[in-house]
Amino acid sequence: MGKGNGFGKVILFNEHFVVYGIPSIVSAIDLETTAVVTKQEKNGVILDDQRPATKGYKEEKKKHQIDSLSRILKKMKKENQPLKITLGGKLVAASGIGASAASCVAIARAINEEFHMQLTEEEINAIAFEGEKGYHGSPSGVDNTAATYGGLIWFKKANPDVIKRLKIQAPLEIVMGNTGMVANTKLAVQNVRRSKEKHPHLYAQFFTQAEEVVEKARDALRSQNLTQIGECMNENHTLLQKIAVSNKNLDFLVQVARETGAFGAKLTGGGLGGYMVALTPGKDLQEKVARAITREGFYTIKTRIGV
Ligand code: MEV
Repeated sequence: MGKGNGFGKVILFNEHFVVYGIPSIVSAIDLETTAVVTKQEKNGVILDDQRPATKGYKEEKKKHQIDSLSRILKKMKKENQPLKITLGGKLVAASGIGASAASCVAIARAINEEFHMQLTEEEINAIAFEGEKGYHGSPSGVDNTAATYGGLIWFKKANPDVIKRLKIQAPLEIVMGNTGMVANTKLAVQNVRRSKEKHPHLYAQFFTQAEEVVEKARDALRSQNLTQIGECMNENHTLLQKIAVSNKNLDFLVQVARETGAFGAKLTGGGLGGYMVALTPGKDLQEKVARAITREGFYTIKTRIGV
């Protein structure tokens, strides 16, 4: 029996922009997906998905999951090996929280252990990236990078990718609010691509602004300037609204968080549903913002970045 795990994630700055080589900041969260893999005598691959999930998520992602799994098995040269794969863990499978990447990393690690392949972290990350293609089409690699390495990361898609660990003085509390809407990241990414082709000058401006915001945010994180981190998150959300990946529910939860005292709030991940994130330093503020979102009928996660 082989076991593996992968972290969930929160993108703090520049989802979507990261696809085009603009730097992003991402953090793993302390919730994981686990995988257990056992060799079988026959019957191909049996996938037993026991993860807790947002309503409709698993059904909606089934095709993507099958595509993803066959890519992982091919990359690991195990496509003809009968296997049973069981997914579990505390990470609730939902849009915006890196559920697909966490499962790809967990599966890659579990197969690695079951077959004593002794793969490096880089190789696990590369396999998970391959698996992510089943869900995202052409992913930037930010989600699988966070799911593999954990921690707070500066990520820039390049050849090779720039992956730098960011150090902050003390961990910061955040609240993540789930719209409960299952989103199609592939579609969101395609929509952005189409609009960018239609309005190249406008998008060039957005990209420049996104780059400025993430650089300002990195300085603010390093100096623990909470007001500035929050402002950068707000600015980033405005840019994400401009490229049309936010929606009414995300905007509403962002508004609730800000009105309750969050230093900043934005959507996180692919958008069009899924999660938003609010900066809520200190347990009291975190509790207050989480309660306000819960009171509106939405599920929340209270966690920390920079642990
Ligand atoms: C999805 O979590 C993040 C996106 O930027 C897509 C990607 O980076 O592959 C929307």
